[in-house]
Amino acid sequence: MSDLKKIKDEFLTKLKGKLNLPEINQIKSDLFGKNGLISSQFKKIGSIVESDRKKFASDLNILKDELQNLIDLKIQEIENTEINEKLEKERIDVTLPERNFVRGKIHPVSQTIDEISSIFSEIGFSVEEGPDVENEYNNFTALNTPKNHPARDMHDTFYLDEKKEKLLRTHTSPVQIRTMLKDKPPFKIIAPGRTYRSDSDQTHAPMFHQVEGLHIDKNINMGHLKGCLDYFITEFFEVKKIKMRFRPSHFPFTEPSAEVDIGYEIRDGKLIIGEGNKWLEILGCGMVHPNVLNNVKVDSTKYQGYAFGIGIDRLAMLKYGINDLRAFFECDYRWLNHFGFDPLDVPTSYRGLSR
Ligand code: PHE
Repeated sequence: MSDLKKIKDEFLTKLKGKLNLPEINQIKSDLFGKNGLISSQFKKIGSIVESDRKKFASDLNILKDELQNLIDLKIQEIENTEINEKLEKERIDVTLPERNFVRGKIHPVSQTIDEISSIFSEIGFSVEEGPDVENEYNNFTALNTPKNHPARDMHDTFYLDEKKEKLLRTHTSPVQIRTMLKDKPPFKIIAPGRTYRSDSDQTHAPMFHQVEGLHIDKNINMGHLKGCLDYFITEFFEVKKIKMRFRPSHFPFTEPSAEVDIGYEIRDGKLIIGEGNKWLEILGCGMVHPNVLNNVKVDSTKYQGYAFGIGIDRLAMLKYGINDLRAFFECDYRWLNHFGFDPLDVPTSYRGLSR
């Protein structure tokens, strides 16, 4: 039997077996590799007697093409089988019931912060942020709060070091200082965020939320403050008119200072905001003290303005009918599910009530 016939027969026998891709590739290189069976036959051509050489070369070329085609076909076949097996194995059963997945809810405090930010942004306030860990200077000294002021007491403030230089900010007012130190007037900002005081009962939590407001420009007066708060509260509670009163108060960093109450009543067991004879305190405010402006190098003979600090949690409780402040921070999944907001059901405006 000629060498060529032998090569062909052996090859055909091997090809009949069940082969995988690495095996067929091995066969291919045994034949056509550098020292493969076919390649070596080509090397022999020169040594064949001239009379036979032409036929041998032609037979060899035919064999080479034939084997190469068969190998390509086999590879194709193996790949098809593998794909089909995979398809068969990984078939998706569309009739299976879907897996249960839980979509989170937006916490009422986050929702309320979003609403507050959009309401103020509509009248030109931008949003600033400050860190929860503050220094004593920004939280107290720069805000005209003297060393012996009761707010500095350990009963009120969480200090983070012996020297009482670092603390958890007791209000968002230090963001006033940070903002005015880093820019030039005018300023028109709000600063929502977490605040901390050593306090805990049904209406006080050691961590709570405030939103600071600051508007400094030439000729800003208390009328602007009143107009701004009136706009904010009516928008926030989605009412046409609101009963509001300014009660004289004291903050070291504002003069004059006031606390603002809104009117409410309980009608048929429902809380009605903005009417009635009862009063609820919701914020502190006033005209920024010249000492504060001087501390941040703002010329208090040219610039003046107002600031306010609103308790966010209190507002959220009123708007969404939540009666225990502590529930906000207990992370009870059932509570969140009930009071939280669907993240995909984004209200077209900030109006959370019309969801
Ligand atoms: N920082 C004050 C508080 O936490 C509130 C406030 C802010 C008062 C700005 C006046 C001006 O009670």
